[in-house]
Amino acid sequence: MVSLNSLAKGAGLLYFGTAVDNPSLSNSAYTAIAFNSSEFGQITPANGQKWDSVEPSQNTFNYANGDAITTKAQAAGQILRCHNLVWYNQLPSWVSGGSWTTSTLQSVITTHITNEVTHYKGKCYAWDVVNEALDDSGNYRTDVFYNILGTSYIPFAFNAAAAADPSAKLYYNDYNIEYAGAKLTAAINIVKGIQSAGVKIDGVGLQGHFIVGSTPSKASLISALQSFTALGVEVAYTELDVRQSSVPASASAQQQQATDYVTVVSACLSVKDCVGVTVWDFDDQYSWVPSTFSGSGEADLWSSNLVKKPAYTSIASFLKSAATAPGATATSSLTTAASTITTSVTTAPSITSAPATTAAVGTIGHWNQCGGQGFASAGACASPYTCSTINTYYAQCL
Ligand code: XIL
Repeated sequence: MVSLNSLAKGAGLLYFGTAVDNPSLSNSAYTAIAFNSSEFGQITPANGQKWDSVEPSQNTFNYANGDAITTKAQAAGQILRCHNLVWYNQLPSWVSGGSWTTSTLQSVITTHITNEVTHYKGKCYAWDVVNEALDDSGNYRTDVFYNILGTSYIPFAFNAAAAADPSAKLYYNDYNIEYAGAKLTAAINIVKGIQSAGVKIDGVGLQGHFIVGSTPSKASLISALQSFTALGVEVAYTELDVRQSSVPASASAQQQQATDYVTVVSACLSVKDCVGVTVWDFDDQYSWVPSTFSGSGEADLWSSNLVKKPAYTSIASFLKSAATAPGATATSSLTTAASTITTSVTTAPSITSAPATTAAVGTIGHWNQCGGQGFASAGACASPYTCSTINTYYAQCL
């Protein structure tokens, strides 16, 4: 079938995914595409898991918006990227404007993370634990977390997430880290800082909010991805869109957009440990771009009336051409990728014990990882689920 996720998996990725937001759930033409696992193998709730949605006032938790999306994704057999736990934005004023001491703010973070990660325990392939800790110059944002706790809030948050769901992959997620610059260097230092604190970090999410004609070159994208994977973490493009600076876009601007999308997808395919690509919604009607970048738009793969654009067709063609025969190049690069992950798991103390918790025979829960190269445990799915291979290095109890 010529659908993005099927083709992406054939080319060696774990998934091709999309963000989905709550308002679009009432559009049945939209949901028929969003929750079609041949098209999208992975879903990220666009807003429903953010702090203002989940804990709008202290100790009052509301999972309705997140669950409305995650239950549909689960029913469709789609992987979840869960987004996000600690971010300066969409943060309720009771947190940002509170008068905290070190210990009271640590307690607020622990309570929030423990509740939310426990609610979704076993369901999230990955969590974006800390989002956008860096400003556009690559300095730490002077938000409430940094102002009270300094950089220590970052490993602190990862530690709390690891304790609440040992099987979720824990990511740092940011934008403008997709190419060389002060911000990429600072993000690399965040990963190193978490690792040197002995705390588990599994991945870096590169958001990938690009502009048609100004998307970084494939070589510079690959180089940035590799600067993270060299540290033993996996990477993914987590929020890809390529916006038009002026709309409506001409035919040639749409072709350039197609080229730019393919550049990004092909960069991911070129790097072992780049596990997948997520578009930040797939349909212009629900894109965040026009309301955020004035005058820009048409950033997604489908038009606002759900017609596929040249970018869709070009990605599909590219993925088809990159499809690997069994035993071909991508398979061997995945093998290497998995052993890299294994190494990082064994060296980080907090992760070493994690798989054991979930690995007892017959106790791995629904949606949990149960196998794949680099998965350091031997266990079985709890009844009535069976361990289904998703790809070389990921099997899930389904
Ligand atoms: C955006 C959502 O798409 C919008 O609906 C919301 O109004 C603002 O946030 N980086 C992120 C995402 O990590 O959470 C943001 O999502 C886009 C930028």
